[in-house]
Amino acid sequence: MVASRLAKRLLHYGLQTYGQYYQLLNSGRHPHEFQLMVNILTTNETYFFREPKHFEFLQDQIIKSWRGDNFRLWSAASSTGEESYSIGMTLAEGLGMRKWEVFGSDVNTEVVATAQRGVYLMDRLDNMEKRYLDKYCLKGVRSQDGYFRVDEKIRSRISFDQINLKTTLPRNLGQFDVIFLRNVLIYFDTETKQDIVQRVISALKPGGYFFISHSETLHSIKTELSMVTPSIYKKPCK
Ligand SMILES: C[S@@+](CC[C@H](N)C(=O)[O-])C[C@H]1O[C@@H](n2cnc3c(N)ncnc32)[C@H](O)[C@@H]1O
Repeated sequence: MVASRLAKRLLHYGLQTYGQYYQLLNSGRHPHEFQLMVNILTTNETYFFREPKHFEFLQDQIIKSWRGDNFRLWSAASSTGEESYSIGMTLAEGLGMRKWEVFGSDVNTEVVATAQRGVYLMDRLDNMEKRYLDKYCLKGVRSQDGYFRVDEKIRSRISFDQINLKTTLPRNLGQFDVIFLRNVLIYFDTETKQDIVQRVISALKPGGYFFISHSETLHSIKTELSMVTPSIYKKPCK
């Protein structure tokens, strides 16, 4: 997979071997190439309301009884933004005009830019209920036919930025009530998983919830979290 994804970069530079590409990356002559390579190598599959049970849990078990003053949620591998906007629509339903915000981040700069635009093909609607489309999305007309844009009332509460989960988190990240880290741990070995989970949950408030995918597990990972239900964990209250 790595070889086939990088083959077009070798072609672009007229290189014969991956060793030559490696040297080019290290030469300092093409400063943007490293990020380009990262963007090519990441797998960004995602869709709206993926794993619907998580959105039900968020709504019924967390939001309904929420009594704080600013609900903060981090989608820590947000890809092209569908997860963050699905969360945004769920929060808008449950919290309405109360104060809430979603922060989405990803290592891939191209998907971060797509997420910031918030424009999607109509045939990418996937699990989104029609009433959400009517309430929170604007359907494109004329040259935008076939696309929709997430409405400003949702977009204004959601921000995106690049974060590599393998490195120190930004100082100004703050603390979150809920963190989604779904469908990304599968790409790492146990040691890296341990390191990433530890780093990410350091940004989770005491009593906060941590979501991974149903197809992932924290079995081999040591954490202070306790499992609420498979794929959903809770940080102990102080
Ligand atoms: C398969 S997508 C999952 C998207 C979404 N969370 C979901 O479940 O639908 C995995 C995302 O993790 C991102 N990713 C991979 N390694 C990362 C890293 N070290 N730091 C931050 N994001 C990373 C990829 O760029 C990709 O967008």
